Amino acid sequence: MKVLGILGSPRIGGNSDILLDEALAGARETGAEVEKVILDKLKLSGCRDCKKCNETGICVIKDDVQEIHKKILEAYAIIHSVPVYFWSMTAQMKAYLDRWCALFDAEWRWQKQYYPKMKGKRIGLITVCGDPNPRTADPIVHSFKSTAEMTKLNWIGVVMASASDKGEIIKDENARKQAFELGKKAARPQ
Ligand SMILES: Cc1cc2nc3c(=O)[nH]c(=O)nc-3n(C[C@H](O)[C@H](O)[C@H](O)COP(=O)(O)O)c2cc1C
Repeated sequence: MKVLGILGSPRIGGNSDILLDEALAGARETGAEVEKVILDKLKLSGCRDCKKCNETGICVIKDDVQEIHKKILEAYAIIHSVPVYFWSMTAQMKAYLDRWCALFDAEWRWQKQYYPKMKGKRIGLITVCGDPNPRTADPIVHSFKSTAEMTKLNWIGVVMASASDKGEIIKDENARKQAFELGKKAARPQ
């Protein structure tokens, strides 16, 4: 059983990275294998809406998305972690999410070949924003939660935290604990 962490911040060792590591530690403690994908280290373009994937389930853009999709399909659960950039998610995370298109048919149903692996897959989210009000990240939560609802993924929850300077979140024991618990939940048997 593998729990996959997807980091949407370019700041390695930053706040969302720290919370994602906490979540993955929680998953590991619960017996899961874990893997972290750092989107900023990969080649990832935006969706072109060419619709070719509607037939094939394969994106025509030849970059690292194919490799990420393989990992998504094999994962038991996926935890995304991303900071707020201009009241939204980072460009890295948005490009990644838009490329999920290839996993769906023209009616936004899982492609037949992916359905058995995607049905009910667990999905969770961690957000960090500089604003003291963590709900500044609500638009990101809306985006991921609506995606999960539309595709019948199993939404395991969200951790919303506030921090500005790199690594500052380390002092926020409550956020770290919540992230650890999210990771534990991700790894729990169905
Ligand atoms: C380009 C950019 C835009 C940002 N926009 C916002 C914003 O709209 N609202 C906010 O609360 N914080 C904003 N921030 C602050 C980050 O969300 C904050 O520093 C966060 O801790 C970064 O997380 P990280 O260490 O995981 O990269 C922005 C930061 C950057 C670099």
